[in-house]
Amino acid sequence: MAHVNENYLKLPGSYLFSEIARRVNQFKINNQDADIIRLGIGDVTRPLPAAVIEAMKKGVEEMARQETFRGYGPEQGYEFLIRLIIDNDFSSRKVELSVEEVFVSDGAKTDTANFQEIFGMDNILAVTDPVYPVYVDSNVMAGRTGKVNEKGQFNGIVYLPCTEESGMKPALPEKRVDMIYLCFPNNPTGVTLSREELKKWVDYARENRSIILFDAAYEAYIREESVPHSIYEIEGAREVAVEFRSFSKTAGFTGTRCAYTVVPKEVTAYDSGGAAHSLNSLWLRRQTTKFNGVSYPVQVGAAAVYTGEGKKQVREMIDYYMENARIIREGLQKAGYKVFGGVNAPYVWLKTPNGMGSWEFFDRLMKDAHVVGTPGAGFGAGGEGFLRLTAFGTRENTERALERIKTRM
Ligand code: MLT
Repeated sequence: MAHVNENYLKLPGSYLFSEIARRVNQFKINNQDADIIRLGIGDVTRPLPAAVIEAMKKGVEEMARQETFRGYGPEQGYEFLIRLIIDNDFSSRKVELSVEEVFVSDGAKTDTANFQEIFGMDNILAVTDPVYPVYVDSNVMAGRTGKVNEKGQFNGIVYLPCTEESGMKPALPEKRVDMIYLCFPNNPTGVTLSREELKKWVDYARENRSIILFDAAYEAYIREESVPHSIYEIEGAREVAVEFRSFSKTAGFTGTRCAYTVVPKEVTAYDSGGAAHSLNSLWLRRQTTKFNGVSYPVQVGAAAVYTGEGKKQVREMIDYYMENARIIREGLQKAGYKVFGGVNAPYVWLKTPNGMGSWEFFDRLMKDAHVVGTPGAGFGAGGEGFLRLTAFGTRENTERALERIKTRM
């Protein structure tokens, strides 16, 4: 008799965005004429930049000719892309990395979910609450957590509340933790940490020999000079932090898949005898066994993000989404909502009116305004009473959605 991994049974029945899709589809069956505007899942709507498309076409043509055809690429990514990443995303910010410290992959979701595999089962992990559900669910699947309580929180996880009073920012854990997931600019709240705030986390990790798993997938949306783009801008972070980046939200690759993870050679974790081991070596071992790299045409396309034209087109795309973010943020504020985010991030986090529950507000928004958001409670107990709207829609839909929220809600 085959047995299932019972850790999966501890999880809620469906992944947050699958549950939302289910509810929207049900609503559409019952309301066939409803013109639904989706500002729920953070999925981009602008086409890939022209420079990326051109490069991808060339990549495909190379694959069509005997002389330039390529089979398996390096599991870690092609060096031409890694060098561009280092020069443009890090050296320009005075962060030095070597080629062996960057691992190109098919997504930050994949990497943030998989990275926990190289840690022991007895590690205590900390997550913000609310949190991007992948960090929690992947650890639950691995068996690093115990039972779930009535608030949907798992034993073995330290939840760091992000409240209205704290400006949606987490405080350092009161008890020692080993693995800390941080995402800034934050998904779902859209808030950021200053250098001083981030330094406290790096100092904590150094003092406690903890590891920070820093998700910087939304880094390209930072507008304010004072906000760090990379955790490695903070002194000492190379010893304690792994950073996840993505071309998905930066350059429209959600359907094309390309991302990368930085694992500096100094980052170490310990075995039960107290000996230190490099996470870089373990991650390389894991990737070479379980991953065969991102396709060549896609990596060529990602490299085009760093050309003059590519940079210009990416900037225009981000400006477009950030104008949507401004429209949402200011529109909601004018309509009397309390909001967070939307300044350095493509997400706006709004407080539901009159203490309404997140899912109740989600349903009302869908029913009365035909607008789909993401209920804050789907990101954890701390998200209850909030709802997230994404700036990744089209301009027209964003404006129409705000008009409907103002007039119908
Ligand atoms: C979201 O809506 O939170 C995003 O789709 C997250 C992701 O990139 O997986």
